[in-house]
Amino acid sequence: MVKNVRKASLPVVGRLHHFTENEVKVIREKLLCWYDAHHRVLPWRSIAATEPDRNKRAYAVWVSEIMLQQTQVSTVIDYFKKWMTKWPTVGDLASSTLEEVNQVWAGLGYYSRARRLHEGALKVVKELNGEFPNDRDSLIHHLPGVGRYSGSAVSSIALGCAVGVVDGNVSRVLARVRGIGANIAAQSTVEHMWSLADQIVDPERPGDFNQAMMELGATVCTPKMASCSACPLRLQCVAYHKSVDEKEKASITNHFKNPEKKKQSLEPSGLPDIECLTDCDLCLRKEDWDNSLGVQNYPRKAQKTQSRQEQSAVVILEHTNGKVLLVQRPKTGLLANLWEFPSIPLTEEMDHWNEVVTECLVKEFGVPSSFASSRTFVADVIHIFSHIRQTYKVYKILVDGQEKLTWPTRYQGGQWLTREEFFTSATSTAMKKVFRAADTCGQKSKNKKNRMDLEGKSSEKKKQKTISHFFKAVQRK
Ligand code: ADE
Repeated sequence: MVKNVRKASLPVVGRLHHFTENEVKVIREKLLCWYDAHHRVLPWRSIAATEPDRNKRAYAVWVSEIMLQQTQVSTVIDYFKKWMTKWPTVGDLASSTLEEVNQVWAGLGYYSRARRLHEGALKVVKELNGEFPNDRDSLIHHLPGVGRYSGSAVSSIALGCAVGVVDGNVSRVLARVRGIGANIAAQSTVEHMWSLADQIVDPERPGDFNQAMMELGATVCTPKMASCSACPLRLQCVAYHKSVDEKEKASITNHFKNPEKKKQSLEPSGLPDIECLTDCDLCLRKEDWDNSLGVQNYPRKAQKTQSRQEQSAVVILEHTNGKVLLVQRPKTGLLANLWEFPSIPLTEEMDHWNEVVTECLVKEFGVPSSFASSRTFVADVIHIFSHIRQTYKVYKILVDGQEKLTWPTRYQGGQWLTREEFFTSATSTAMKKVFRAADTCGQKSKNKKNRMDLEGKSSEKKKQKTISHFFKAVQRK
């Protein structure tokens, strides 16, 4: 009989990476006890714990979970409170407009989330009679933007469904507790994480258990500064025991090299055997272990993808009455439906981009050519989106209202807004930065002539005949 033949499609997974029944029991007890004593009081948690109406609970937890996707708890709190004050029920949200929703969301980023919440509310009201679906799969099926994570979070926290969750925090905790050093983004690793989360969730208190896992990851088992001494799961943690063992080994080696040096006293390993199968697909490879990192060897670092560099010219057209022109972005894509200053994408290939900007201002926006070419350069504003490093070259032009301004078809419309209206409208954080840069620059240059003469001697122009240097660092795939 041939032994140890690896099947092509099935990963080999040692028992180290699973939980025994006893471990499940102990982990549930310890984690919930820790959570009861240490959890942060957060507004959506209070609603989930005290609101008797399941529909109101589901609505609040759904809103919070969508806000918490890609956004920190500390940022979400005020947005959540404002949202729930304005739209306390799913019906209230359904009766609002997308424009109002975008206004309240402004600054939170990833704007498609706001649109999906609005769409979801309309669906619940119109198609589901105002009733939220009552389990993970139907939440995923009916609500746009609700996937495996949000469906599991909402159904466990608001509706008491016994399903596990895996987000970045949970995945790190599980990787450490079960010594999973395989690529955390690989499908087989992801599936393993979900099966662990489903196995370990406490059926009596699934919402608290899942939030406890997230809380442990966010406050104790953090990416770079894990506080193992404060961790309730330390004794069940493979990464902890491995790091203790490896330090011990290193200190013994040091002792033989340098017998004078006193051996450090380290907590002994509680796991009898943390060796796994030699060909296990989930283990960290021996050569990847770095003793200085300890438990932070897990999860293994994913290779970072380089962000794309993009550039555009942004023109603040300011009327002598103080209002500024805003145009509305397309219905789909990045920052969909948000309002921005007229913007002109600049590409690497544009050799004479100053001329391109002038031409676009004249032809697409109807700016008289003398104004277009004598625009004032304000500043370069850089904004980092998740995968794009965007440079805005910001300009300002004063107009007196005689001009007949237009906008290209890529925009849905345009409007003149006062400064106050601008800051409360559905504009992105990036555009607010742009406006603030213009303010700051305006103050500074009150006494300093900063007008750019494209015919003449502007240092701006001299320095920037081409924009290719902005793109030098781009790595093409
Ligand atoms: N991140 C995602 N969901 C969360 C929750 N319910 N509490 C705290 N952080 C979270």
